[in-house]
Amino acid sequence: DLPARVRIHEVGARDGLQNEKTVVPTEVKAEFIHRLAAAGLTTIEATSFVHPKWVPQLADAEDLFPRLGDLEGVALPVLVPNERGLDRAIALGARRIAVFGSATEAFAARNLNRSVDESLAMFEPVVARAKADKVHVRGYLSMCFGDPWEGPVPVHQVVRVAKALMDLGCDELSLGDTIGVATPGHVQDLLSELNEEGVHTNTIGVHFHDTYGQALANTLAALQHGVTTVDASAGGLGGCPYAKSATGNLATEDLVWMLHGLGIETGVDLDALTATSVWLAEQLGRPSPSRTVRALSHK
Ligand code: HMG
Ligand code: MG
Repeated sequence: DLPARVRIHEVGARDGLQNEKTVVPTEVKAEFIHRLAAAGLTTIEATSFVHPKWVPQLADAEDLFPRLGDLEGVALPVLVPNERGLDRAIALGARRIAVFGSATEAFAARNLNRSVDESLAMFEPVVARAKADKVHVRGYLSMCFGDPWEGPVPVHQVVRVAKALMDLGCDELSLGDTIGVATPGHVQDLLSELNEEGVHTNTIGVHFHDTYGQALANTLAALQHGVTTVDASAGGLGGCPYAKSATGNLATEDLVWMLHGLGIETGVDLDALTATSVWLAEQLGRPSPSRTVRALSHK
């Protein structure tokens, strides 16, 4: 059975832009997010409160976030790796944060300068303080299927870190296929194992990158398993600066095309969203990699 409605967690402004070499002006980012909201997206990841040297593209978080204050009814989660990041986010009134762990040691070291368990220890006070303030917490888990340095990642290794993130008090989990190597059977195996270990499907979102063209097939497998939260990036922007061979996220337009075709509601106006990605591609000086954006904009 497929769900009647899917909640799209839009990551274009964060995961999409964080990999762009040229720094995008803050006003362009603000307009991008306003246009995403106008297209009907209701969860729009806005930026990251990480060290500015690690992700220079998002160094303007303090300038950008207040420009989004007029977006009523839109959840604007932000990435926060540690208490310093939480302080910065809370000072601006953020009500939703995301910590981001890794299933592998290689990526934890490169992305967070920590081991897996040291990263969990870093998140512990972040999640505890956020929960005490009734701030919603998402726990990302990267490298759930494969890792560019370690190769295939065993399901039990992913489940251990997933449970640890939920035990810290995260409200939801997002399973990241950071380098896009997952295939549908692997997705269903991981979801089944998580369920068996007590992590419920209604707290799980999926986060696919489209490196090998598998993102939509993987999404459908997750929907068939009961998942109703899907991460996607407008126009298929994206990648991760600390993950070798990570390319774009699943494009939101490709996702919406499939979901609407299946009769699943999203609340998204696909024409308005496509126009937004075409506009952003012009700002970036490069066409969108999304097949749906290309098809709809060349009609
Ligand atoms: P570190 O060098 O170990 O930091 O980096 P530290 O704790 O040793 O602190 C060093 C200095 O940085 C201190 O300053 C801190 O105050 C400062 P000093 O006292 O020396 O003057 N500092 C900060 N400044 C501003 N904001 C902060 C902050 N934290 C420390 N938040 C750290 C550790 C976690 C900070 C670093 O590794 C980092 O910023 N990493 C972020 C990497 C990142 O953003 N990656 C992309 C997101 S993950 C992703 O894309 C995957 C995902 O999409 C899912 C998927 O696809 O799998 C989510
Ligand atoms: Mg990602």
